[in-house]
Amino acid sequence: MSQLLDGKKTAQEIRDLLKGRVARLKDKGVVPGLSVTLVGEDPASKVYVGAKDAAAKEVGMHATTHRLPAGISEADLRAHLIAQNNDAAVHGILLQLPLPKHLPEESLLDLIAAEKDVDGFHPVSLGNVMLGRPGFKPCTPWGVQVLLRRYGISLKGKHVVIVGRSNIVGKPLANLLVQKADDADATVTVCHSGTKDLARYTRDADVLVAAIGRGEFITADMVKDGAVVVDVGMNRVDDAALPKGYRLCGDVDFKAVEPKAASITPVPGGVGPMTIAMLLSNTVWSAERAAGIESAQDPFAN
Ligand code: GUN
Repeated sequence: MSQLLDGKKTAQEIRDLLKGRVARLKDKGVVPGLSVTLVGEDPASKVYVGAKDAAAKEVGMHATTHRLPAGISEADLRAHLIAQNNDAAVHGILLQLPLPKHLPEESLLDLIAAEKDVDGFHPVSLGNVMLGRPGFKPCTPWGVQVLLRRYGISLKGKHVVIVGRSNIVGKPLANLLVQKADDADATVTVCHSGTKDLARYTRDADVLVAAIGRGEFITADMVKDGAVVVDVGMNRVDDAALPKGYRLCGDVDFKAVEPKAASITPVPGGVGPMTIAMLLSNTVWSAERAAGIESAQDPFAN
């Protein structure tokens, strides 16, 4: 039996800590404000955005979700984002990805003010992550790091193998975990679709992070006995036997891999809730900075 890394529980602990900081801000007349923008009707994005809005409200923040039509022009979306930058009541701005094909993700993300980039996707935020400097950290990689630390899993000298090189997860996670820090200091390998003999790397992992976006891609033969397994995936796979016609699964074949792993994240209830908790944490930290309140970035350090 492996240890379950319970992201749902850890995220709740973080939200409970944030409630105290939100109350302290309110005493100073500041309500942390999160602005979320959803363009179009992507079903998964709708679910994520709804969860972010609800979690922000649970901790006492002011959350606004802007639902914009899929056909919005680039100029109109730019004007909308600039308005969020200029709104003093907004401390954090999130543009939900993916965007409809006609909209250029990169230049739109660049437009979000770096001091409100609570998603951690701006080049300035990512540059700070790479350099090990303070700044907004992307929520999913940071959530993975905090979850491992919360369960006392040291990464010092360990071989962390990340499967997936996205700008949202794989690349920033590698940069976080390679830093010389108590909750990092790992030797990191990033594998991707061009990696030859992938299993050769995954089988060597002390900590294996699956962030590929392919359902149950990591099978038991790809995992070393006693490894820590982190599943970042959330996929819909067809299942005609179910009323919905699909089921949700991670990038790891949980049933087969769990008996081999020392510790493993479930899907759902693992990394997903941590992503949202770190988004709230970044937003509260942003509001504190705007209000001139000293606080640690780490939600467990306050
Ligand atoms: N799409 C999938 N994950 C994320 C995320 O963490 N932030 C944003 N903005 N879009 C996403």
